[in-house]
Amino acid sequence: MSSYHIKNLEEYFQVYRKSIREPENFWQEIAEEHFVWRKKWDNVLSWDFSKPEVKWFENAKLNITENCIDRHLLTKGDKTAIIWEPNDTEEKAVKISYRELHEKVNQFANVLKANGIEKGDRVCIYLPMIPELTYAVLACARIGAIHSVVFAGFSSSALATRTNDADCKLLITSDGSFRGDKTIDLKKIVDKALEECPGVQTVLVAKRTGGEVNMKEGRDKWLQPLMEESSTKCDPEIMDAEDPLFILYTSGSTGTPKGMLHTTAGYMVYSAYTFKNIFNYQNDDVYWCTADIGWITGHSYIVYGPLLNGATTVMFEGVPSYPDFGRFWEIVEKHKINQFYTAPTAIRALAKRNLEFVEKYDLSSLKVLGTVGEPINEEAWHWYNDNIGKNKSPIVDTWWQTETGGIMISPIPFATPTKPTFATLPFPGIQPALMDENGQELEGHQVDGRLCIKFPWPSMARTIWGNHDRYRDTYFSAFKDKYFTGDGALRDEVGYYRITGRVDDVIIVSGHNLGTAPIEDAINEHPAVAESAIVGFPHDVKGNALYGFVILKEVGETRKKENLIKEINQQIADKIGPIAKPDKIQFVDGLPKTRSGKIMRRILRKIASKDTSNLGDTSTLLNPEVVQDIIHGAL
Ligand code: WTA
Repeated sequence: MSSYHIKNLEEYFQVYRKSIREPENFWQEIAEEHFVWRKKWDNVLSWDFSKPEVKWFENAKLNITENCIDRHLLTKGDKTAIIWEPNDTEEKAVKISYRELHEKVNQFANVLKANGIEKGDRVCIYLPMIPELTYAVLACARIGAIHSVVFAGFSSSALATRTNDADCKLLITSDGSFRGDKTIDLKKIVDKALEECPGVQTVLVAKRTGGEVNMKEGRDKWLQPLMEESSTKCDPEIMDAEDPLFILYTSGSTGTPKGMLHTTAGYMVYSAYTFKNIFNYQNDDVYWCTADIGWITGHSYIVYGPLLNGATTVMFEGVPSYPDFGRFWEIVEKHKINQFYTAPTAIRALAKRNLEFVEKYDLSSLKVLGTVGEPINEEAWHWYNDNIGKNKSPIVDTWWQTETGGIMISPIPFATPTKPTFATLPFPGIQPALMDENGQELEGHQVDGRLCIKFPWPSMARTIWGNHDRYRDTYFSAFKDKYFTGDGALRDEVGYYRITGRVDDVIIVSGHNLGTAPIEDAINEHPAVAESAIVGFPHDVKGNALYGFVILKEVGETRKKENLIKEINQQIADKIGPIAKPDKIQFVDGLPKTRSGKIMRRILRKIASKDTSNLGDTSTLLNPEVVQDIIHGAL
């Protein structure tokens, strides 16, 4: 028997040791005991990080939706699978049982089939947090179509890039979405995006806001009527363990977004096992992750992880500030939430408000609190621990990435003693390494380096869609035979890990990863702009905010600076999305550059952070004189 549920620290160490000494046996036992397979694997693991190539549970046959839904029907058919909490407090929450979920997913799957979607086809999903989003994801998985969910806050241009990159045949959206007091015309954004996406043959439109939409003859169809007339029975497509399950885009420091490809069996086993242990999920618990399904956190820990465990998972359509800053806590009380998983940026935003927003509500149902997305600062950690957890609910600070598919470093509640700002210990099966700049692994405790993983785990991304070379170059070339995360980390005296942040040009703003290069490209497309550089600076709610340094083309540019800033911001919002707009834009005459022409971002970061007392070595600069000018003009 494997230990599926780790209950104390001693057991964690035992399980961890086994997972390192006998990784294949370890994962095989979990896979055998807790999932349904149409056929078992011939081989648990084969791997070669130099290619890189990784295969888990080779030649096994399964369908992940059978594991998420069908197998629960006998014992949990009436159990609530999803609680959907709408944006507006006036509108009623909806409870969807496993049986209903089964019907909806099957109907949706039949709609996809009727519209020509087959195994291996890509389907783009651009939906707000409404139940149809979960149905859509699972309907794709049911028939073996590869879902590519694009966060519905992205602009039409970002949607078009992603839709084309994955060569999606069909797109699923809604008429509009509600977010706080705003109504967003999603379908209009889609229409604009699709002007550039000739490959999309069908658009399924879910009705949500009732707003006016333009339906393109022959291409656009209302979703719900089609679902209603479809059969509630759709046999699951039998998938190979390594068949693709989904693509999810994440920003890189350079170039276009990377379509991380996740495959079926390994992702299933890992997302389920981590969910069970890291949230200590018990049978009748109600679990809520506040993320959007447009991000990996939503994929693994709103949809797949919870449903694989037969859990009740909450989907929230709205925002933490609407109708007021007590909304999260109102929902915790209303649905008696047991596990609550959110991001540091949300915690900081709420911690700034009056405690009355918290104290009005009964939070005694809470057992485990989680955080994800960026390093949590000590103050936010304590606020969360004291005011939300009342010092009795352990905080799981979960470190992981879109690329890793599941949580990699995290405390296990009631087993691992927590320590503010530390993600603590690697999850079973995860072998972290800290590397120095010369590529040597740092052994022992109290060291600080670049975080790598030296052994495969089941849910790692297998490639970047359509660009395996980029996958190798980005993740497997910095350190030989190791997966490089792009993060820095330190290991303390007892072996706990603390993630210190990105070491590349990705900046995390309010939990969203933003690459500097795409933002700079968007700025540079403005006709008045010659060159630009984006850096991050600390922000007490967002974690980081963006600071743009912009060189204009003509010295005699007559337009007002305010107008230019507006236009530049608009350009960024159109190309990427409003989240990528800088807090500050400073016009400069030059940017500090090395002799080889590289912008020295280190110096710009210091200026943006108002930390100019020691700029470090500037002797290699081609144009050291610009530095003082930039400091004088700093905002
Ligand atoms: C950061 C989100 C510190 C990190 C699941 C990582 C964190 C990036 C933590 C991935 C954490 C995530 N502590 N930093 N607990 N969790 N990060 O792909 O820099 O959206 O590389 O996946 O977020 O972000 P992504």
